[in-house]
Amino acid sequence: MSPDSRSDDPRVAAAAAFLRERGFGGPFALALVTGTGLGALAERLAAPRTLPYGEIPHFPGSGVSGHAGRLAAGTLAGRPVLVFQGRAHPYERGDAAAMRVPVGVVGALGSPPLLLTNAAGSLMRRAGPGSLALISDHLNLSGMNPLHGEPSDARFVPMTGAYDPALRAGLRAAAAAAGIALHEGVYAWFAGPSFETPAEIRMAARLGADLVGMSTAPEVILARFFGLRVAALSLVTNYAAGFEAGAPDHAETKRVARDAERAVGRLLDALLSRPEAP
Ligand code: HPA
Repeated sequence: MSPDSRSDDPRVAAAAAFLRERGFGGPFALALVTGTGLGALAERLAAPRTLPYGEIPHFPGSGVSGHAGRLAAGTLAGRPVLVFQGRAHPYERGDAAAMRVPVGVVGALGSPPLLLTNAAGSLMRRAGPGSLALISDHLNLSGMNPLHGEPSDARFVPMTGAYDPALRAGLRAAAAAAGIALHEGVYAWFAGPSFETPAEIRMAARLGADLVGMSTAPEVILARFFGLRVAALSLVTNYAAGFEAGAPDHAETKRVARDAERAVGRLLDALLSRPEAP
């Protein structure tokens, strides 16, 4: 068997060493990835410090409008949090492992739970634009996998219970405490960057999809590869193509996400304020 490249990935080790040196070494109660339009969540941090991704060895640039491409550390509800403001998407360079180093770094900095957020289309009539939904599981419809080419047996990552049941329970309890309606459903990962066709959305609905988007699923696979507990939260920005007359576009995605960002912020506050958090 090849050596286990999770613990000896030199790019992850170099990025983590740099971050420790720059005072981003943790420990952290939570690591957060902010999706499209949700980068302003980092403005909720007290005593924030930031680093552009471009300065961190082996970090991806983030070239999508609506994404800052910056790492932030500070406290939220009094607890130390690491925030990845913006992500690299597989559709940018055709690389499904675009987030391998950032996710691996979470593992190298003490493995706090990882909460991924995204903007998504909804196939749930009751969850219209502006709704929040927990992801319970995913369908990988992209034809890609971030572990293609991974040499070690660690590549055979179990994906049962990948979306951590205890973290999800904590998020549900936090939503209830904060008076926020939280839907829940299966996320279908399409490779993008074009939005789905109505026919693709009808297919996804038949396969059991409740949400669609172009990110998150590969990061969950990587998180499980690195042994992290992970959960994911979708901010619904639109009904999926052809569903309830949905006709998604990127400007709408950014606008709705920005408007609903406060609810996600309140949910995070509630999550981190729980004594057993998160
Ligand atoms: N499809 C894919 N990605 C998305 C959507 C969508 O409808 N909305 C926001 N991100």
